[in-house]
Amino acid sequence: MTIEAEAVSVVIDGRPIVHQASLVCEPGTMTALVGPSGCGKTTLLHCLGLLQQPTSGRVLVDGVDTTNWKAGQRRRFWKDSGAFVLQDYGVMEEESVAFNVVMKSSIFGSRVLGNQTSLNEALELTGLSGRDNELSAHLSGGEKQRLSIARAIYKNAEAVFVDEPTASLDEANRTRVIELFRNLASRGCVVIVATHDDEMMAACDTRHSLTRPAEQPLPATAGVVHGAL
Ligand SMILES: Nc1ncnc2c1ncn2[C@@H]1O[C@H](COP(=O)(O)OP(=O)(O)OP(=O)(O)O)[C@@H](O)[C@H]1O
Ligand SMILES: [Mg+2]
Repeated sequence: MTIEAEAVSVVIDGRPIVHQASLVCEPGTMTALVGPSGCGKTTLLHCLGLLQQPTSGRVLVDGVDTTNWKAGQRRRFWKDSGAFVLQDYGVMEEESVAFNVVMKSSIFGSRVLGNQTSLNEALELTGLSGRDNELSAHLSGGEKQRLSIARAIYKNAEAVFVDEPTASLDEANRTRVIELFRNLASRGCVVIVATHDDEMMAACDTRHSLTRPAEQPLPATAGVVHGAL
């Protein structure tokens, strides 16, 4: 799946947050959104994942303009094609590990439905084998992060949107998580990652740098407190 931004700008409360971002993210590749804190990486990632509507510009999915997509079309995109690994992990804490991967259970109880082989594969790849029935709330931050990656692997997502995936991880887990995303890309998935991490950036095929849109110019007298000296 190809995800594309065409001159995407976001203005919030009159403040420019993202200015005219244009990029093309191809299937089978990893794209890093990089830049200093507050430059709009998360905001642009949310626009690309159709979680947020740009103020101007367009986001295209496989060449189709999504600007006027109805809620149902967006939901279908999230359900069928997209997966998110966001800063709060997007894990349902009160549910089991297995449910969080498969997202389907029997209405007559807590039995998790879905494909057991794919579930096992996703848990094995993310180092969570055998933990199917554990309550997700009991996982560590890094494990919750890997759990949300397991969900993307299980559903065979075509597009994965990732926010700062390595921020809270130690070296070994950082390398492992980066390998998981590379693995998704090698299956043909388009992976888009907002990141500060050099190792993650190096693993990406392309980088899109954001700069803070120019702040309002300060008045000439700014900083001068009359009579202070
Ligand atoms: N809903 C909102 N309302 C007001 N301001 C917002 C909103 N969303 C984002 N912003 C502002 O937009 C700017 C960019 O935020 P964003 O989270 O996209 O930055 P970032 O590049 O991801 O930063 P970081 O590297 O710290 O995660 C910030 O100054 C933030 O306060
Ligand atoms: Mg951010």
